[in-house]
Amino acid sequence: MRDADALDRMLPDVDAVVHQAAKVGLGVDVADLPDYASVNVYGTAVLLAAMARHGIDRLVLASSMVVYGEGAYGCTEHGEVRPGARAEADLARGYFEPRCPHCGAGVRPISIGEDAPLDPRNAYATTKLAQEHLAGNWARETGGSVVALRYHNVYGPRMPRDTPYSGVAAIFRSALEAGRAPRVFEDGGQRRDFVHVRDVAEANVAALEVGRSGTLSAFNIASGEPHTVGEMAEALATQRGGPAPVTTGEYRLGDVRHIVASPYLAEKELGFQARIAFAEGMREFATAPLG
Ligand code: UD1
Repeated sequence: MRDADALDRMLPDVDAVVHQAAKVGLGVDVADLPDYASVNVYGTAVLLAAMARHGIDRLVLASSMVVYGEGAYGCTEHGEVRPGARAEADLARGYFEPRCPHCGAGVRPISIGEDAPLDPRNAYATTKLAQEHLAGNWARETGGSVVALRYHNVYGPRMPRDTPYSGVAAIFRSALEAGRAPRVFEDGGQRRDFVHVRDVAEANVAALEVGRSGTLSAFNIASGEPHTVGEMAEALATQRGGPAPVTTGEYRLGDVRHIVASPYLAEKELGFQARIAFAEGMREFATAPLG
């Protein structure tokens, strides 16, 4: 992706680009920053410039829900709020829920829409948002169209094996295959939206059909059926016949607590609706081959 000559060889006769390539994960430490910026930001810039050279005006971009940072919450006193990073003192004593930024009270998670303010919390998230911004600049300059798909937690067959950069579904699946118990951090009550890779593929195909000249449109790509990380660990372990998950109380400072999306806009504008339910998808994933 960073090789302009290679792109010049690939792009003639191409009508649209579906850009999935990226360095993923949360960013293991600051030594990773140059590589994240180079692969995800510089790589996308090189691609956009090459698309302009070849007169390609349609881009579907794999973005991520991590651009939102912590999810949206409701406070009894202050209505909808967006809490900042959780205090380490709370995490250390096993209190994992975010607090209302105004009164410090406990809050309840609510579904986040695409118009929520963006708040990337780690190197990967920052570079995904930079990709969206660069693509938006490109669209305005060239009259091209960009559809950014903000993937929630994608899982499914041929997912890469456990690495320090893997998401939780791949980590649990790899642990079970090795006969180890999935290690569930915090109290296991953190919510995510696990969306199956075949549904994500369909969203990409649908995204090729929409897009408005000169603009970037962003959509949550989610199942609309959030589950806790603890439930996901249980589902996979049960399907494989154990070992049972262990809830460790560990925490990572870069993690957000809950991120629950509204799939409404993708349904309305892309006609996208996830079809693979959690139980069915996890049953398949529990024994499907890893990449
Ligand atoms: C993940 C991906 C991110 C992607 C996003 C949306 C990683 C590291 N994160 O973010 O790249 O853009 O989904 O698709 O690839 N956890 C455990 N045990 C473990 C590991 C993690 O309980 O062994 C917990 C974490 O504490 C966290 C949750 O699982 O609460 C999700 O972690 P993870 O999948 O790493 O990150 P996401 O924020 O969901």
